[in-house]
Amino acid sequence: MLKGKKIVLGVSGGIAAYKACELVSRLMKLNAEVHVVMTDSACKFVTPLTLRSLSLNQVAVDMFDTSSYWEIEHISLAKLADVFVIAPATANIIGKLASGIADDMLSTTVMATKAKVIIAPAMNTNMYENPVLQRNMKQLETLGYSMVLPEDGRLACGDVGKGKMADPAVIEKAIIDYLNQKQDMVGKTVLLTAGPTREAIDPVRFISNNSTGKMGYAIAEKAAQRGAKVLLVSGPVNINPPYGVLKYDVVSAQEMYDKVMELFGECDIVIKAAAVADYAPVTPYSQKVKKESPELELKLKKNPDILYELGKIKGDKIIVGFAMETENLTENAALKIKKKNLDLIVANDLNEPGAGFAADTNVVKIIDSKGNIESIPQKSKLEIADIILDRIKGIKRT
Ligand SMILES: Cc1cc2nc3c(=O)[nH]c(=O)nc-3n(C[C@H](O)[C@H](O)[C@H](O)COP(=O)(O)O)c2cc1C
Repeated sequence: MLKGKKIVLGVSGGIAAYKACELVSRLMKLNAEVHVVMTDSACKFVTPLTLRSLSLNQVAVDMFDTSSYWEIEHISLAKLADVFVIAPATANIIGKLASGIADDMLSTTVMATKAKVIIAPAMNTNMYENPVLQRNMKQLETLGYSMVLPEDGRLACGDVGKGKMADPAVIEKAIIDYLNQKQDMVGKTVLLTAGPTREAIDPVRFISNNSTGKMGYAIAEKAAQRGAKVLLVSGPVNINPPYGVLKYDVVSAQEMYDKVMELFGECDIVIKAAAVADYAPVTPYSQKVKKESPELELKLKKNPDILYELGKIKGDKIIVGFAMETENLTENAALKIKKKNLDLIVANDLNEPGAGFAADTNVVKIIDSKGNIESIPQKSKLEIADIILDRIKGIKRT
């Protein structure tokens, strides 16, 4: 599956360095050519000999070691990489990369590469949650580095929380997806919204809906794999953002509107997959409402219609909306496309089996501005995401 692909794997000094051995072994089974670069600290956790034996290649550690190569090694490794992966990535290497420090073989080789860099952070939860580390990760993502985020779990230090390196199988998938993906969205910026919004009733209660964000996150994942810069404005959901995506968290429809308007100028394509609440309480209670009276009246006001507002100022940008209906699906979707000046609308019918919010599959109709309707049968949300992006690519302006 990876025959002929050259992968440079950077290993830095964390407990999860032993999992780099499994990653190398997996990549070798897929016929990749793997070159390992280790930091000095990494060599305290696993030996270069182990990784050399698994990769069948010399392991680079010392930048000034001239014994085995006639080439300047950090430059030759940087150039040969089809993809550069750092797993595990310590807080230290992430900080160095974000600050432009190149003081050892790994940081210098990354500095010299033009290849895609995929980073799998691994560390103690407190280290991971440290705002400095979070800032450094965000900074790298802004610059186009991709993250395979760590998982929640029991860490080697005994703590339970976020920071456990993503499973080698997950990192392997990120590598395969990147290397095998068609790169037809390079240079495009996609602004995507996903998930539900929450409209506060009081400090502890809200009005929301059943959106899980799965469809929007699937599109974000595929657009990033196809080379787009993805700005994902997300309501509260329980899924990790896909690697390579810049995520902006919002809660209410008003916050989503504000963030989308702020980012709109930067993008070429807008895909609004979020389930935005149409109404919000006029004035949320400042204190928790007590259950004293038998009835409680809530006065609601209409939220801003983000799609409609974007439609008015779209210029030559592509705008794609989503419609979820329980009746008259195509008629309502066709009306929406005209009223909101959209290029495409992806409509799903909640009554269809395999469609809807929490499912991993969907059944949709894609309607264009000329009224053409394409029915997509039940497929995984990732497959549907690819089809939606293909149709967007089919619009002349892209
Ligand atoms: C037993 C042990 C485990 C460590 N595990 C981690 C880890 O999982 N993540 C991390 O960021 N640092 C960890 N560290 C700290 C790093 O090894 C230290 O910051 C080092 O300077 C990293 O160097 P490098 O980034 O050049 O590999 C650990 C240190 C020790 C002694």
